[in-house]
Amino acid sequence: MEEERVINPEVENKTEERLEKTLRPQTLDEYIGQDKIKENMKIYIKAAKKRGEPLDHCLLYGPPGLGKTTLSNIISNEMNSEIKITSGPAIEKPGDLAAILTGLSEFDVLFIDEIHRLSKNVEEILYPALEDFTLDIILGKGPSAKSIRLDLPKFTLIGATTKAGSLTTPLRDRFGIIHKLELYSIEDLCKIVKRSSKILNVKIDEEAATEIARRARGTPRIANRLLKRVRDYALVLKDGNIDLKLTKHALNKLEIDELGLDETDRKILGIMIEQYAGRPVGIDALAASLGEEVDTIEDVYEPYLLQIGFLARTPRGRIALPKAYEHLGYDYQTRIN
Ligand SMILES: Nc1ncnc2c1ncn2[C@@H]1O[C@H](COP(=O)(O)OP(=O)(O)OP(=O)(O)O)[C@@H](O)[C@H]1O
Ligand SMILES: [Mg+2]
Repeated sequence: MEEERVINPEVENKTEERLEKTLRPQTLDEYIGQDKIKENMKIYIKAAKKRGEPLDHCLLYGPPGLGKTTLSNIISNEMNSEIKITSGPAIEKPGDLAAILTGLSEFDVLFIDEIHRLSKNVEEILYPALEDFTLDIILGKGPSAKSIRLDLPKFTLIGATTKAGSLTTPLRDRFGIIHKLELYSIEDLCKIVKRSSKILNVKIDEEAATEIARRARGTPRIANRLLKRVRDYALVLKDGNIDLKLTKHALNKLEIDELGLDETDRKILGIMIEQYAGRPVGIDALAASLGEEVDTIEDVYEPYLLQIGFLARTPRGRIALPKAYEHLGYDYQTRIN
């Protein structure tokens, strides 16, 4: 049987993608949670509009599925701008970026996803573009090479990344607005689940929405995914309406536990507790034992385990904390001594 991956699906299918788009809020007021960011962005957007200037360049960072792409689209909507979307790995050569930049119109938003993956020589083209809206092009080669400077339309760059730490300092310094997206509270996730249910045209009660929220590990994308799976169970096993009993049944079938942990989370903690007997584990060793990428552990799994106090980072490596032992049914005292 193919393993169902709800937390880290490697292949996003087309329907899933389309559904994700329909669930995307369009305005800042519809965007749930992240109150501090919303409050600040509203001011910056109003001020930029009053001055008749494009918004300052923004950097949004945080774990996957927290709404960076959604927020970028909203920002461009609120600025009444057009958005052009690309990503770090898609821009291979400096010429690719030059073509994108010269194709922009005044006030456009250029969204670069995974901006930490831009190559060095592409990034260097970006510096003068961000600072002075100019593009330096070298024509020819060797001693006869000439450099010409082109003016670019005034635009706003929005960069998104799960790894702000991997950004070079010169790039980071060119963003006037930098926001970190935080994992969502259960309350906010509950609102998101109820909003999505409305859009999907499915009835869900308060308790069921809270249950999904509780198991969504702080992440709207996961909340929406769980909702869709539960909706399937409701349609097949019942009249299509979602209540608490059905929700618990469906989520247990998906092997998502009461805290939202899945098979991989349990394996990560299990390796730390059993294989390494509670000693600090380096991220590379952990990745090797688990058979996952370091990036996946760091971006997808760790943020939530850190947040709920199951895991800590020490200078010598990761350790599982007593709460994790308890949750997985190990006796901390006997294990540690
Ligand atoms: N604040 C929010 N309110 C309501 N829905 C949200 C919110 N944030 C995200 N979502 C929903 O979660 C889904 C994922 O959001 P989005 O694609 O913007 O995440 P992301 O941070 O760009 O993730 P990635 O890093 O994987 O690209 C969207 O379909 C959107 O409907
Ligand atoms: Mg995204």
